Amino acid sequence: MLTEKLFLENECNQLKKKANRLDEEIRNLKTPPLVVGNIQDVSGDDVIVRSSNGTVFLVSVNKRIDPELLVAGARVSLNQDTLSIIDVLVDSWDPLVVASEVIEKPIVTYADIGGVDQQIKDLIQSVELPLLNPEAFKKMGIEPPKGVLLTGPPGTGKTMLAKAVANSTSATFLGMVGSELAQKYIGEGGRLVRELFDLARQRAPAIIFIDEIDAIGSKRLDSSTSGDREVQRTLMQLLAEMDGFNSLENVKIIAATNRPELLDRALLRPGRFDRVIDVGLPDLAGRTHILAILTKDVPLDSKIDLAGFARKTEGFTGAELKALIIESGMAAIEAGANKVELKHLSAGHSRIVKNRKDPLYGVPEALYG
Ligand SMILES: Nc1ncnc2c1ncn2[C@@H]1O[C@H](COP(=O)(O)OP(=O)(O)OP(=O)(O)O)[C@@H](O)[C@H]1O
Ligand SMILES: [Mg+2]
Repeated sequence: MLTEKLFLENECNQLKKKANRLDEEIRNLKTPPLVVGNIQDVSGDDVIVRSSNGTVFLVSVNKRIDPELLVAGARVSLNQDTLSIIDVLVDSWDPLVVASEVIEKPIVTYADIGGVDQQIKDLIQSVELPLLNPEAFKKMGIEPPKGVLLTGPPGTGKTMLAKAVANSTSATFLGMVGSELAQKYIGEGGRLVRELFDLARQRAPAIIFIDEIDAIGSKRLDSSTSGDREVQRTLMQLLAEMDGFNSLENVKIIAATNRPELLDRALLRPGRFDRVIDVGLPDLAGRTHILAILTKDVPLDSKIDLAGFARKTEGFTGAELKALIIESGMAAIEAGANKVELKHLSAGHSRIVKNRKDPLYGVPEALYG
């Protein structure tokens, strides 16, 4: 009986231990997820934290945390209920920012873009030269532009131009899309902008490319939705970063927009995007050049006079010319022809003109290749 009692007592203890362990596990599973925030200020025992959704709190700190780590700017995790600081997060590059780095150079070159010779010259002068030879600017006592803004209607080759610049220099190319900053990473826009610039400085010479900047750079209105406020914080961070570096530092910023009229004037002030390069609709020579580039690999009927055909494409953008060539090629395939003849080009042309009248029309992105 005695051995049996000892044995059962022993078993009882073990089961109690197991129950404790499982209780602990349940508690862990029940803890709410942590919220990420940034320390804005520390004074004595009080810490002011801006949580990732933008609200600012005065919070308490877990006693285990080394007070030296609690400095303004540090990233911390907060308990979702009490908002007390649970831990200080190590500063590492955001994977998103690192991923934005185009390690493989874009394959677009200047030769792929037609009708923009002057714009290419301007870009070389204001982005490539200062990166390659900042000394020349210093000697002349002038400051090269920090930022270049590409403007122009949709589909005129702005994104292509920025990629071609990246291709032609050996600088690190960091690309971001404004609408992604504004919509996908709510609450993180400001931080991403800061990290993007930090990374650019570290990897200098570097080019930062912000496509569709109107998504974060629109005029500051007295807006009240938190989404708008968030977008404005991203913009403020961008302005602060642009002011924070010297124009001779070898980091250059290129931005692109097709809605320049929406941009906050502050972005265009000297020392920010002080060089605007307008990429307008291509003229006749430009359209002829673009058609020649686009049909480089297309078997064209030798009777076709591209310059003559280009006359009929007044007002077409590069993207529309590309769609036209694709439509013509499809017309040729449908007709069982082995090359693109003038009648196929004309069919493609009417297709584009007809599509334009359709308010819902947009050339599917997939066709851009
Ligand atoms: N000047 C051009 N020369 C050759 N192809 C062009 C030109 N402009 C546009 N294209 C064609 O149109 C496509 C879209 O161009 P791109 O993306 O550069 O336009 P965008 O100006 O950035 O437009 P958005 O303002 O809508 O962003 C390109 O992939 C290319 O095929
Ligand atoms: Mg673009």
